[in-house]
Amino acid sequence: MTTTLVDNIGLLVTNDPGDGDGSALGIVRDAAMVIEADRVVWVGRRAQAPSADTRVDLDRQTVVPGFVDSHSHLIFASDRADEFASRMAGTPYAAGGIAATLIATREASDETLRSNASRLLAEMVSSGTTTVEIKSGYGLTTDDEVRGLAIAQSLTAESTFLGAHVVPIEYQGRRDDYVSLVAGPMLDACAPGTRWVDVFCDRGAFSVDEARTILQAGIADGLLPRLHAHQLERTGAVQLGVELDAASVDHCNYMSEADVEALAGSATVATVLPGADFSTRSVYADARRMIDAGVVVALATDCNPGSSYTTSMPFCIAVAVRDMHLTPAEALWAATAGGARALRRDDIGVLSVGKRADFAVIAAPSYVHLAYRPGVALVTATWKSGT
Ligand code: NIG
Ligand code: FE
Repeated sequence: MTTTLVDNIGLLVTNDPGDGDGSALGIVRDAAMVIEADRVVWVGRRAQAPSADTRVDLDRQTVVPGFVDSHSHLIFASDRADEFASRMAGTPYAAGGIAATLIATREASDETLRSNASRLLAEMVSSGTTTVEIKSGYGLTTDDEVRGLAIAQSLTAESTFLGAHVVPIEYQGRRDDYVSLVAGPMLDACAPGTRWVDVFCDRGAFSVDEARTILQAGIADGLLPRLHAHQLERTGAVQLGVELDAASVDHCNYMSEADVEALAGSATVATVLPGADFSTRSVYADARRMIDAGVVVALATDCNPGSSYTTSMPFCIAVAVRDMHLTPAEALWAATAGGARALRRDDIGVLSVGKRADFAVIAAPSYVHLAYRPGVALVTATWKSGT
C-alpha cells in the first residue's frame, strides 16, 4: 500500500494529549505525518519522520483535525432570506418558520434536493469539514422523510431521522396522531440505514413527553438518540437527554444549575450552535459555564435555511471565542474532538496512529487565526480519509 509523508507542517494539532506539548490539543511544532490508505500511521517531529512513497510539502502551514459538524439540516429547498431580514428588523425567531421550508421541500424534485445538499456539503468541505451529520425534517410525510434520508445517506454515514421537527399543518388539532405516525410507521420506514433519531423538543414543536415517546421508539428500532434542547426555553429536554443517554443535547441556551450538573455527570455532550444564536440574535448559549462545570462541549453549524444558514465551522469557532468566551484552543477542540464525541465516534477528531487521516490545512502560523481572522478563508486544503 502506498504511503504519503505530509511534511513541513509548521504547527500540528493532534488532539492527543499524550503527544506533543502535553496540552489537550497535543501540539507538535515542525511536524510531519505519514498516511497509509485512509489512516494515520505515524505522527511526530519532521526531523524524525520515516521515509514514504510520496511527499507533500505544506510549507509551514498549520494542520488541524478535520472539523466534525455534528448538527446540520441540509435536505431542503428554497431559502428564508426575507425571514432573516425581518428578524434583523426586530421580529423574533419562532419554530413556525419551518412550515415555509416544508412546502418548498415537498414540492421540490429529488434532483433539486440532492444538488442543494451537495452544494452545501461542498461548501463545508472547502472550509475544513470532514464529517457531517445530516438530518431529515423538512418533509414530514413518510415518503418525504424517506427520500430526504436516502439523500442524506448518500452523503454521510451520520444521518438522522427528524420526523419530529414540527407538527405539520395537516395535523393541526391532531398532534397525538402525528406523534403516533412519527413513532410508528414513519419511523419504521425511515430507520433502515439511518444512525440517529432526533426531536425538536421546544416551544412550538414537541413536549418532553412526546419527545420521550418518539426517542424510545427510535431506540427500539435500533437508532441512537440526540435532541434539540432548550433553544427557545427551558423545557426539561436536557434532562430527558441525560435520562436516555443521548449522545448530545443541542442548543442549550436556557440552562438551570441542575441541567448543567446533570450533563457534567453524564456521557451526553452539550452541542452549542453559535450560527443559530448569531442569526436569530438570541442570547448565546453559555458554553463557558458548561465547560467550567465539566460538561463536554461540541460546536456545530446547525446549517439550515431558517435559524443558521452557514456551512462554516471556522465562523462558528470565531463566534464561540468572541461571544461564548471559549479560548481559541477550547473552540477548536469542541469543533473537532468535541464533535466526534457528540457522534460517539473514536476514529475521527484526533490525529494519532490508527485514526482516520481527516484534516484541514490552514494558511496561518497557528490555529488561533481561525478566530483571530474571522470571515477569512484560511483553509487551503481538506483531506478526507487520506486524500
Ligand atoms: O436547529 N430548531 C429546530 N431546527 C432548526 C431550525 C429550523 C428552521 O428554522 O428551519 C434549528 O435551529
Ligand atoms: Fe437544528
